[in-house]
Amino acid sequence: MSNVSLRHLAKRYGKVAVVKDVSLEIAEGEFVSLLGPSGCGKTTILRMVAGLIEPSDGAITVGGRDITRLPPNKRNVGLVFQSYALFPHMTVFENVAFGLRRKGESGAALDERVREALALVRLEGYGDRYPRQLSGGQQQRVAMARAIAPRPSVLLFDEPLSNLDAKLRDEMQIELKRLQRDLNITTLFVTHDQAEALSLSDRVCVMNDGVIQQFDTPEEIYHRPATAFVASFIGKPNRLAGTVKDGAVDLGDGLVLQSSGAASLDDGTPVDVFIRQEAVTLSASPDGKGTGLPGTIVLRSFSGAQVQYVVRLGNRFEVVVEVASSGEGANLEQGREVFLTIRPQDTIILRSGTGA
Ligand SMILES: Nc1ncnc2c1ncn2[C@@H]1O[C@H](COP(=O)(O)OP(=O)(O)OP(=O)(O)O)[C@@H](O)[C@H]1O
Ligand SMILES: [Mg+2]
Repeated sequence: MSNVSLRHLAKRYGKVAVVKDVSLEIAEGEFVSLLGPSGCGKTTILRMVAGLIEPSDGAITVGGRDITRLPPNKRNVGLVFQSYALFPHMTVFENVAFGLRRKGESGAALDERVREALALVRLEGYGDRYPRQLSGGQQQRVAMARAIAPRPSVLLFDEPLSNLDAKLRDEMQIELKRLQRDLNITTLFVTHDQAEALSLSDRVCVMNDGVIQQFDTPEEIYHRPATAFVASFIGKPNRLAGTVKDGAVDLGDGLVLQSSGAASLDDGTPVDVFIRQEAVTLSASPDGKGTGLPGTIVLRSFSGAQVQYVVRLGNRFEVVVEVASSGEGANLEQGREVFLTIRPQDTIILRSGTGA
């Protein structure tokens, strides 16, 4: 168990920088996810920590020790990839024993460590099987057992669950979280699945184009995104462009949106307001205070637990609204005039062009 520190880490291929000046502190025992779109540099960072790619600039320390130039087998990190990459001609036992043997373990001590690692991933009794005799989820658990058996100071995961079907992925997410808590190993987890990152992590590092956009708790990332990129990458929020006026946001067409953050901005400031689909309440009549925004339902779709509406606001905006199908406002028909209520504290307001 160790803290991990990335300092001004960069990777260039020729003139193209794919990781740009990334600095990150991961505390002992912390679970941190790197989250971002395809090609943003997640795997490159992970592989630099593992020692499989050499950084162009910057340093990596684990437990205060500079490992930037150490070969992979001297780093004491465990690695689990998207493809399980088990040795097909070796039994489960031998797969898990592999890293231990390379560290010089043998005999009863080795047997005990392998048994312990297989128990942790709930595969006791599977030691004699070959990878081809296991399901995808079981193979991925063997890969995890192999990574944890040598008791690394850091665990690195690169989309380890993305090859599994949805149900198994959910189960494995819970297993993974339990395992990481039990072992208390500092973990860096790469994913482009935002729900996975939010639910597993102590903190999430959102990246775009080789640059950290925000590094914070899942709650902060979700409720207080620092940039337009983070706001639009997490969830599927509506984005409305407007101008600050008298502590509110003028959306044009006579529409005025109350937003908590508007008070601190000067009149005339161009802003983007992000509103999550589930943060909007729909009603068939005005709320009496005159704060509801009038709109028209152009589409209604039922998807089981939720009903989604597309609501036209003025001439410029269409807003997607999601309500519980058992709740109020679930049975409004297409073409009907409605009023949208959004609590001022549920709006995310950013100056236009903030890191978009
Ligand atoms: N050996 C290489 N030479 C040149 N460019 C590379 C090389 N390896 C990776 N890249 C580029 O670096 C960028 C980052 O790649 P990386 O694999 O880190 O992305 P990622 O965030 O893991 O994406 P994904 O979610 O698709 O796995 C990509 O644009 C990729 O094309
Ligand atoms: Mg990748």
